Amino acid sequence: MANNEDKFKKIIAHAKEYGFVFQSSEIYDGLAATYDYGQYGVELKNNIKDYWWRSMVQRHENIVGLDAAIFMHPTTWKASGHVDAFNDPMIDNKDSKKRYRADVLVEDYIVKIEAKIQKEVTKAAKRFGETFDEKQFLTTNPRVLENQKKIEDIKKRLYSAMDEERLDDIKTLIEDLGIVCPMSGSRNWTDVRQFNLMFSTEMGSLSEGANKIYLRPETAQGIFVNYLNIQKTGRMRIPFGIAQIGKAFRNEIVARQFIFRMREFEQMEMQFFVRPGEELKWFEYWKEQRMQWHLNMGIPETEYRFHEHDKLAHYANAAFDIEFNFPIGFKELEGIHSRTDFDLKSHQEYSGKKIQYFDAELNDSYVPFVVETSLGLDRTFLAVLSYAYNEEKLDDGSERVVMKIPPFLAPIKAAILPLVKKDGLPEKAIEIFNSLKNDYMCFYEEKDSIGKRYRRQDAIGTPYCITVDHQTTEDNTVTIRERDTMKQDRIGIDKIGSVISQRLKSNI
Ligand code: GAP
Repeated sequence: MANNEDKFKKIIAHAKEYGFVFQSSEIYDGLAATYDYGQYGVELKNNIKDYWWRSMVQRHENIVGLDAAIFMHPTTWKASGHVDAFNDPMIDNKDSKKRYRADVLVEDYIVKIEAKIQKEVTKAAKRFGETFDEKQFLTTNPRVLENQKKIEDIKKRLYSAMDEERLDDIKTLIEDLGIVCPMSGSRNWTDVRQFNLMFSTEMGSLSEGANKIYLRPETAQGIFVNYLNIQKTGRMRIPFGIAQIGKAFRNEIVARQFIFRMREFEQMEMQFFVRPGEELKWFEYWKEQRMQWHLNMGIPETEYRFHEHDKLAHYANAAFDIEFNFPIGFKELEGIHSRTDFDLKSHQEYSGKKIQYFDAELNDSYVPFVVETSLGLDRTFLAVLSYAYNEEKLDDGSERVVMKIPPFLAPIKAAILPLVKKDGLPEKAIEIFNSLKNDYMCFYEEKDSIGKRYRRQDAIGTPYCITVDHQTTEDNTVTIRERDTMKQDRIGIDKIGSVISQRLKSNI
C-alpha cells in the first residue's frame, strides 16, 4: 500500500469516483470545506446513524432521543459561553497570505519533537534487541529527557497564554520556536487575533427589526434547553440521557482535510444527566462504552486510542478523546466530556427558569451534572472509509480495489446480476431482486461482463454478489460471491435471505 498521504489522496479520489462524497457545488468550482454525500455515501452515513441510534437510544431504557432546531434563541449562545469563548487564535503569513490556527502551528511543532523522541526509541530498540526496556529508556536517556522538557515548557507557555488570552505571547512563542509558514517558508507573521467560529445570520426582515442569530456550533445546547421538557414529559429519573443527531456549523480557520474538518458537519451527541458527585464514575463508564461501540464495528483495536485533554474546555472537569488512526495520523474522532453543571446552571441563570431535579431517594433538589459523548458522524464515515480501502493483487496478476466496509454498514448488501442479458436470466434476477428489496438495500445490474460488475461492487463494498445463470432456470440455484474472500458458493434461491442476514448480524 502507498504511503499515508498517497493513501489519503486515493481514498478521496475513490470516494468521488464511486459516488460516496462530492465537493459541494462542484460545477461552480466548489465551496471550501463543504461536501455532499452521493448515492452510496448517504447509505453508509444513514447506516452509521442507525447503528449509533440503536445502540444509544433503542438499547438503553433510560436514554431518549430529540431533534431540536438548528436555529436557537440567541441568548442560548451567551449562556453556553460560545459568544464570548468559542474562539480560535488565528495568525496570517504575510507572504503566502495563508491563515493558520496559531495554537495548531505550535502543536504541530510539538508533534515534530515527539517524532524525534520516537526515532530515538526505535533506534535504541534496534540496538539493544530483546533486552530493551522502553520505559527505562524514556525516563533516563538525556536526549529524550531534554526533548520531553522542551515539550512541557512549550505546552505550559501555550496553554497559559491561551487561558489568559495573551495573544502577543502566542505570537512570541511562534517566533521563539522559529516556526515557518508551511507554504512560503517565511517567518513574516501578522499579530495573533481571536476569531469566533460561529456563523451568524439574521432572522426576520429588516423592517420588523433584524435579530442576529447563530447556526448552532454543537447540537448539545438543543438538548440542554429541552432538559425540562423531556425530563417532565418523559418522567425521566436520574441517571438518564438525551441523544441527538444533527448538523452543526463552525467557521473553521483551517479546513483542508476533506471531510475530517468541515464548516458544515454532523454530530451524534448524548448528554447523560447524573447526580452531582457521581459524574466521574459515569464519565469512566461512558469512556469504555463508547470505545466498545467503535470496536464492535469490527475495526481492530490498534486503530483507536484514548487521548486525555491537556487543556480543558471552559465547561469541563474531565475530558478524553477517542482518536482514530486516520491516514493523516491519529486524530480526534469522539469526545467524552464531564461538563459539570455548567450548562444547565447557566441556562437557569440566563432564562430565569428553575432547572432543578428533585431526587426522591436523596430527598433533595439539585442541578444535574452532565457527562457528554460527542461523536462526529463525518469523521466516523472517514474512519470507516479509511479502514475499508484496500488495494489487492490477485493470484491471476490482476488488481482490485475492495472496500472492506463492515457488512452491516455497507451501502448495498447484495447485487443481483444476470450472467447474460437474454434467455430469461434478467427476468429471473429481477424476481430475486424484488423478493429481497423489502429487507435489504439491493442493486440490480445487467450491463458489462460479470468480472467488471464484480469489481464495481467490490469498489463500493457490497458484501454479496448473486449471479443468475442458466442453471438457475433449471434448478433455482444461484452463485453467491463473498466480497472479501471472492469465494463463490452455489445455493438455493430460498437460502439467499438467510445467508445475507447471518453476515449482517456478525458484528453487532
Ligand atoms: N458538544 C461538544 C463538542 O461539540 P467537539 O470536540 O468540539 O465537542 C465533537 O466536537 C466532535 O464533533 C469531534 O470529536 C469531531 O468528531 C466532530 N467535529 C468537530 N468539529 C468538526 C468539524 N469542523 N468537521 C467535522 N467534524 C467535526
